[in-house]
Amino acid sequence: MEQITDFLYKYKNYNFAIGPTNAEYIDSLQSFDIQNSDIFLVTYPKSGTTWAQQIIISICELDGGLTKYTNNFEQMPWLEYKVDPQDYALRPSPRLFASHLTPALMPPGLKDKKAKIIYVMRNPKDNIVSFYHFTEVFSSMETPKNFDHFFEEYLMGNVLGSSWFDHIRVWHSKRDEYNILFLTYEDMVLDLKAAVTKICIFLGKNLSEAAIEQVVEKSTFKNMKKDSKANYDFLLKEMLKGDFMRKGNIGDWKNTFTVAQSERVDQLLQERLGDLSLKFIWE
Ligand code: A3P
Repeated sequence: MEQITDFLYKYKNYNFAIGPTNAEYIDSLQSFDIQNSDIFLVTYPKSGTTWAQQIIISICELDGGLTKYTNNFEQMPWLEYKVDPQDYALRPSPRLFASHLTPALMPPGLKDKKAKIIYVMRNPKDNIVSFYHFTEVFSSMETPKNFDHFFEEYLMGNVLGSSWFDHIRVWHSKRDEYNILFLTYEDMVLDLKAAVTKICIFLGKNLSEAAIEQVVEKSTFKNMKKDSKANYDFLLKEMLKGDFMRKGNIGDWKNTFTVAQSERVDQLLQERLGDLSLKFIWE
């Protein structure tokens, strides 16, 4: 375990926040008991995790099979943050977990292909801007000097979650080893109902048209902003000094990036992920 900033340490080639977890707990995930009915949401930070959480939780609720917890983050806890693993063993199915981890750090039992993983990715330019703004309001993260500084740190992978490029590559290249659905944040923005329907089908939940509409309604930006179970308003003001639900759109990077920064990301995408034939929507 190597401390890299006041807020981050590196363990097994991955950057963790100092505080909410430790090496021993991360190692214990190697024997985390996976159940066939488990549902995992995996993302790189600031890619639409909270949004997909709301969708998955709403689908499971309407499907009739969810014990209620106080908020979405207790309903779908972070796998990597040590809360109460004992409680996880006792939770009724389907158990829901969120994670920013890479495959090597995840419970190997997921490879038995029965438990489901939903992976949401977001175009890296909007991801950088969203991440930058989050570091300004979230007190457990280093506040960067300015956007240009954060941009460089992000491209070097010196942020929570390490490198965006590595995260996408490793999950994408290992996708055949898992029962996994890939979605993009942009797909969700452009057609939320289609994304909800896709998730329902993947989860094997046969919801009525009216129930699907209800999930869509609960998951719009406007409604999530008001939803105290989903919007992180329950965090102390010293911890979150602004709105978690910030803008929620595609193309905000254009308000922040220089032409040179945009070209750098284009070039890196080509160099590092060009062979994966991924298509990103930029506006
Ligand atoms: P912005 O900062 O661009 O607004 P994560 O949950 O992975 O941290 O991602 C946070 C991003 O998802 C934020 O992006 C947030 O506003 C956006 N988001 C959350 N819920 C959303 C929704 N219902 N519709 C669109 N964007 C949403």
